[in-house]
Amino acid sequence: MESMDQKIDEMIADLKSYLEYLKGMGIVSLPAYEMKADEPGQSTMITLEDVRKELGDCKRCKLHRTRKTIVFGEGNEKATLMFIGEGPGYDEDVQGRPFVGKAGQLLTKIIQSINLSREEVYIANIIKCRPPQNRNPEPDEIQNCHPFLMKQISVIQPKIICALGTFSAHTLLKTDAKITALRGKLYNLEGIKVIPTYHPAFLLRNPEKKREVWEDMKKIAELIQTQ
Ligand code: URA
Repeated sequence: MESMDQKIDEMIADLKSYLEYLKGMGIVSLPAYEMKADEPGQSTMITLEDVRKELGDCKRCKLHRTRKTIVFGEGNEKATLMFIGEGPGYDEDVQGRPFVGKAGQLLTKIIQSINLSREEVYIANIIKCRPPQNRNPEPDEIQNCHPFLMKQISVIQPKIICALGTFSAHTLLKTDAKITALRGKLYNLEGIKVIPTYHPAFLLRNPEKKREVWEDMKKIAELIQTQ
């Protein structure tokens, strides 16, 4: 039988190697239930508004030079279900809201397919500023944005995250497996269930894949029922 001390040593070693792994990925801060002091001796949980304020007129990466707006994310601060896409496109950059273009209209329908509305869920992206010509986000851009997404997640505390597309799934799950292998399966991110599915923009190009997304959404609806 392992002694309590041995178990604690093992836990510390595991935690240390996990933190080293995150550091290697460029993640230098972790989400935490941060407290802010209202008045001396008092404290409250941080809100999305606090996270937005901390982000400010962000110039942490080069995308600030070409973006029009910061697309922070929107929806229910207490959402059970959160959708995380890749990054803003043209329409999102203009309007300052996530998923409002053609892919966004399809996402709205996907959400409605399980009898939810956009207002009931929370929608965000891996990065908050549009990359020029909608190119893929670069590692330094993801790295700078990641702490803010993780803070949003820690404020919202969703039960389920639907990762939309390869970039979202790879960043959240720290894997480079193919989205075809990842989709529809259940993963764990710090106690939150993560289900990757295809990105709505991919579905616009490959409508025959909608059926698989429908299967994934049914799984999500079932999970919500059990919450
Ligand atoms: N694609 C995304 O990944 N996010 C958006 O907000 C819009 C399109």
